[in-house]
Amino acid sequence: MANAPVADRRLRLHEETVRGLQAEPKHLPTAWLYDERGSRLYAEITRLPAYYLPRRERELLRSYAPDIAARAQAETLVELGAGSATNTRVLLDALVYVGTLERFVPLDLNEEVLRESAPAIAAAYPGIAVEPLVGDFLDELAWLPAAGRRLVAFLGSTIGNLYPLQRRAFLRALAGVLGDGGAFVVGVDLVKDPRRLQAAYNDRGGVTEAFVRNALTAVNAELDATFEQRRFDFDARWDPAHDWMDIGLRARQAHTVSIPGLELEVSFEAGEQLRVEVSTKFRREAFDREFGLAGLRLDSWWTDPAGDFALVLALPAVP
Ligand SMILES: C[S@@+](CC[C@H](N)C(=O)[O-])C[C@H]1O[C@@H](n2cnc3c(N)ncnc32)[C@H](O)[C@@H]1O
Repeated sequence: MANAPVADRRLRLHEETVRGLQAEPKHLPTAWLYDERGSRLYAEITRLPAYYLPRRERELLRSYAPDIAARAQAETLVELGAGSATNTRVLLDALVYVGTLERFVPLDLNEEVLRESAPAIAAAYPGIAVEPLVGDFLDELAWLPAAGRRLVAFLGSTIGNLYPLQRRAFLRALAGVLGDGGAFVVGVDLVKDPRRLQAAYNDRGGVTEAFVRNALTAVNAELDATFEQRRFDFDARWDPAHDWMDIGLRARQAHTVSIPGLELEVSFEAGEQLRVEVSTKFRREAFDREFGLAGLRLDSWWTDPAGDFALVLALPAVP
């Protein structure tokens, strides 16, 4: 399995963890969510009835992937944060139909998830070279494979998990490497009735809670930390000031956690938040502006009839 060049990904994650646990509010980098178990739990979340996002995205891809494939004429499809690459198959089908596609490069931080998904895709699309890449899409991206015309996909509303500054840097880096003839397709969840958002992230079966709590298990396992699940409540709530679901845990009582692997002691007050991820919901105007500032031009913005989700095709802005 190919690896994107990076000095030491784990070391960087550890440094970000120290910074996050010393910040206000305290937070853990989202990357802790997606170990092998976390990726399995995420796949379960995508099948929950109230978690409408993947279904809406799939419907939109079924309607518009042929347009995207015809516009992009891509020889290479790169998918950032590909995971199980489930909805990607709709895009792959359309690109194969157009007849340009030679190569699929699913990129993810999580090597295990690629070890499962890449062979399955390779078996289903025998005419396409499947070249999985372990890497971080928050890096510079200069190392993204550059062969032929490229379509870069960012599905599953993963763009919503980036903080605003990360998103800006990511979009600028992407615009910088997309080059002439490149295209970018992104699945975007939209602002809607907070009750539906609350329901989407607070399933009764507790799958989302188990997914979020798994971040603590992962930190304990890798860094010998003493996070105790029983000392935290799960908490996922709509934050209208930021237009995001704020997802994580709250300390039930004041206590201190040791993290020997980081030489760190972290004290929590009763009720104090430990954020594990945000899931930003977007509005078209702001999205348009942000893409413009990054050097990208919105070519198409497709939504489902209820306006739940958008599929966006962007191209490099003309200089
Ligand atoms: C919300 S899931 C979406 C998965 C898939 N695209 C889908 O639509 O089902 C986010 C995926 O991005 C990966 N991921 C998260 N942060 C990443 C990063 N900084 N670089 C690369 N992959 C990342 C996770 O491992 C996970 O597979």
